[in-house]
Amino acid sequence: MLSSPATLLTKPGSFDLTNYLSEQREYIDLELERAIAVVHPKKLFESMKYSLLCGGKRLRPILCLAGCELAGGDRELAIATACAIEMLHTASLIHDDLPAMDDDDVRRGRPSNHKVFGEGVALLAGDALLTYSLEFIITRTPRIPAERLLQVLHTLIRLIGVSGLVAGQIADLESEGALDVDLQTVEFIHSRKTASLVEAAVVTGAQLAGAEEDMVSRLARYARNIGLAFQIIDDILDVTATQEALGKTPNKDQTARKATYPRLLGLAESRRRASQLIAAAKLELAPFGDRADPLIAVANFIEMRPS
Ligand code: FPP
Ligand code: MG
Repeated sequence: MLSSPATLLTKPGSFDLTNYLSEQREYIDLELERAIAVVHPKKLFESMKYSLLCGGKRLRPILCLAGCELAGGDRELAIATACAIEMLHTASLIHDDLPAMDDDDVRRGRPSNHKVFGEGVALLAGDALLTYSLEFIITRTPRIPAERLLQVLHTLIRLIGVSGLVAGQIADLESEGALDVDLQTVEFIHSRKTASLVEAAVVTGAQLAGAEEDMVSRLARYARNIGLAFQIIDDILDVTATQEALGKTPNKDQTARKATYPRLLGLAESRRRASQLIAAAKLELAPFGDRADPLIAVANFIEMRPS
């Protein structure tokens, strides 16, 4: 699924995104397989693993490794944080699919977690992934100064909590069915429920490698732009793509009368807005030259992704 748009971007002599994505993804999947042992109470761990090991695109953890490499670190330094970010993302999707939220039966081409394990277990699997992700960073990151580790944890907690993912999700729930939702509100929702975790991924990767403030700020702006573009494309695909391509229910936003970019701006203008954000994101990387090739290629991939 990753290959077609990525292949389009691979010109002779240019950065090989297809290869880069599949290599990083393989590394991440291997580490995620090993991250959680099934012990007592088995149902909890099986439920966590069911949603975590499901062949997602792994874009957020890939961005974390790329942020670390851009800042001069080895990917081994960031792999625990990259896995933690995928755990957090998975936790948020398990909760998002619950009947009390989006009530979605399909995720990543399979029945949603609560459809298999029940609502109570799904709720707890999300809680467990959220808390374990932080423990995982603390116990599995190679030795770095404690101050740096604290900085990474702070970035992550700030961006998933009351001013990040949770804030975006509640604004999303509150906007459901409302007819007077404006663009500012949609941007508030998208920049928090989606762009926040993308920002956390790139920034924590760079912070692990000890990036200077200027680089961290540039990467944060890059990530916020591609994160917002990612969600706009998600809204567009919700209207235009099939369930087979998406691995989840299409037309869900319209059915739930969600506040989205296509609803407010139409498809063509939404696409234009996403392209503008991708261009702005790439501009932030100009000072880093070739070292930013992976991040530039990922930005291009987000713009062209089919699912
Ligand atoms: C999917 O959006 C949902 C999110 C990106 C964020 C969900 C956030 C929470 C449940 C709160 C925070 C939770 C934790 C564990 C930190 P969507 O419904 O637009 O996309 P979809 O079509 O893929 O469901
Ligand atoms: Mg949803």
